[in-house]
Amino acid sequence: MKTPVFIQLHHDSAEHIRQELVLGLTANPQPGGATVSPKFLYDALGSRLFEAITELPEYYPTRTEAAIFKAHAEVMARVVPPGATLIDLGAGNCGKAAGLFGVLAPSRYVAVDISVDFLRATLASLQRQYPALTLVGVGLDFSHTLALPPEAGAPDAGPRLLFYPGSSIGNFTPAQALVFLRQVRAACGPVAGSGLLIGVDLVKDAAELEAAYDDALGVTAAFNRNLIYKLNRLVGTDLRLADWAHHALFNHMESRIEMHLVAQRDLTVQWPGGRRAFSRGERIHTENSYKWTVPGFSQLLREAGFAEPLVWTDAPTVDAGRFAVMWAGA
Ligand code: AVJ
Repeated sequence: MKTPVFIQLHHDSAEHIRQELVLGLTANPQPGGATVSPKFLYDALGSRLFEAITELPEYYPTRTEAAIFKAHAEVMARVVPPGATLIDLGAGNCGKAAGLFGVLAPSRYVAVDISVDFLRATLASLQRQYPALTLVGVGLDFSHTLALPPEAGAPDAGPRLLFYPGSSIGNFTPAQALVFLRQVRAACGPVAGSGLLIGVDLVKDAAELEAAYDDALGVTAAFNRNLIYKLNRLVGTDLRLADWAHHALFNHMESRIEMHLVAQRDLTVQWPGGRRAFSRGERIHTENSYKWTVPGFSQLLREAGFAEPLVWTDAPTVDAGRFAVMWAGA
């Protein structure tokens, strides 16, 4: 039996993180207002709340994507190169990729996530299930730069299959997404047959979108408001849960769901070394989740240097789909 290899590439210091958060909190009220990066949503509790979100009746993306993978597994198995190095961007519990091992038939699995510590137990247990598969865990914040370590395998050793499911691409602005996809294209390496398998959430009725991000049970609200605990821990702010409400809206102009924390009264937030006043109704912008059209995302892939993608959706006609899975050859 093989043993998984682990490598942590980069860790922001606590001070660096504090500075980044303070910069967002004190950002000028006009035009953008205060912001906190969505990456802070995924601490131990936040990751569990996100898993709960994926079970909610209103949150369609996860189960819709799973249904697309299931319905089109045979065709995907034929277009994706067998024996590839499967590189999972934002692997988390590795469940999605592992569920596709049978379809994708990789020879090497590289799980990339912000912290390698999240990957240790999962990869150890995957190794027991797949004793012959080479497993590599990489701790890397690829939202900055996607620079894979040598442990991921030589770029020319065989085809590479980059895997970015879940519509996480939606957290990037279109301009950031283009920069990111160009890096993914470069990470595909020189071997023919390599490419990107990606999940993309599609533009749809605003009411359906807003319900998915403001569910009746209040799990998404808890997921968002958990940032209050997180900020108090990391920055030493004195934010109080009762003062901040969850708000989600579809911004048509930008084609994105926005999540905000909305101040419920006039208040001043204080922390060691700073303070900021918020008036009632003023917001902290905590997440964007961009929604794409199939032609719009295909165009983006081409601009990033990929071939015209193959597209699968949950509808008989691609245009009517709620979610899309795309295969873009490098
Ligand atoms: C993990 C970024 C894909 O945008 O749908 C879910 C995060 N935020 N509900 C998404 C999220 C609120 C999710 N992504």
